[in-house]
Amino acid sequence: MEQDLEKLRSSAAEDIAAVSDSRQLEAFRIAYLGRNGRLSALMKQLGTVAQEDRPRLGKLANTVRSELEKLFSDKIVSLAGQAVRAERPDLSLPGRRTVNGRVHPVTQVMEEICSVFAHMGFSIAEGPDIELDYYNFEALNIPAHHPARDMHDTFYIGESTLLRTHTSPMQARVMEKQQPPLRVIAPGKVYRCDSDITHTPMFQQVEGMLVDKHISFADLKGVLTVSLQKIFEKELAVRFRPSFFPFTEPSAEVDIECVICGSEGCRVCKRTGWIEILGSGMIDPEVFKMVDYDPEVYSGFAFGMGVERITMLKYGIDDLRLFYENDLRFLSQF
Ligand code: FA5
Ligand code: MG
Repeated sequence: MEQDLEKLRSSAAEDIAAVSDSRQLEAFRIAYLGRNGRLSALMKQLGTVAQEDRPRLGKLANTVRSELEKLFSDKIVSLAGQAVRAERPDLSLPGRRTVNGRVHPVTQVMEEICSVFAHMGFSIAEGPDIELDYYNFEALNIPAHHPARDMHDTFYIGESTLLRTHTSPMQARVMEKQQPPLRVIAPGKVYRCDSDITHTPMFQQVEGMLVDKHISFADLKGVLTVSLQKIFEKELAVRFRPSFFPFTEPSAEVDIECVICGSEGCRVCKRTGWIEILGSGMIDPEVFKMVDYDPEVYSGFAFGMGVERITMLKYGIDDLRLFYENDLRFLSQF
């Protein structure tokens, strides 16, 4: 038995040297240290040896067991060390390309518009997307059952709450809190049940308002003309067209020449050669009364720009819905 234990010892030393991965190491453990392994088999023979030899052989068997266990645990440590060394970066490999995100084109144009007005002394206010009927309509001189409500294709949420259909509710919210003179823009998302090549159900507007003594329609025209030149950075034909809004009087909508067809007339401009980008007008005295401004003392103008339409004209995009389809091949061009 003594010889058998010595043999086991030397063959284990040989075998462990050949182990080079964790699978082989496990095979080693089973063969030598497992419940039915070679060491166990020898231990079982202890019962059959002469009484006087038993303590000595038992001690030897235990020494061999701890030697085998040490071989095994040392190997675990050395294999782990190899694995760590194998993971060390290979500095000769080419680097991985990082894909940078981009600012969405509509957001880029939104930021440009805000910066143009900020340079003209306008401050920025923000209001809620979920709006009260009062601010979206009532405070803007659009009482319940007024036919102008039809123009808005409103998503109602409750009896008196809705997704704002325009940024104009910010007119009342700002004027309630501030006294004139004021110059404020209010950018944000608006919602209408509407979808075609120039309409999306969610779009963005920038509301603007300026109130002071002696403000006239000439101021409105001047501020809008100068700011649109800065926003487009190129000479595009602009026209002011008479229009109607219950909260402004007189009112005008502004159209820009259709860049898709060069004003020839196409499906984007509905054969008119023009694309509407904003609504505007002199703030109606009725709106001033709601916020306790004296219409005899103050006058002012307001406007609401469609940011997707402006982006469309700036970049010659012929379908507004592309902005919200999240196709990276499209979005990464900006
Ligand atoms: C308004 O929303 C008024 N609140 C604008 C206003 C403000 C008038 C202040 C007077 C004083 P209108 O519904 O025309 O008006 O919309 C304004 C602009 O938003 C449009 O000129 C257009 O550029 C854009 N727009 C309107 N509907 C959509 C839509 N579904 N998708 C994308 N852009 C739209
Ligand atoms: Mg309009």
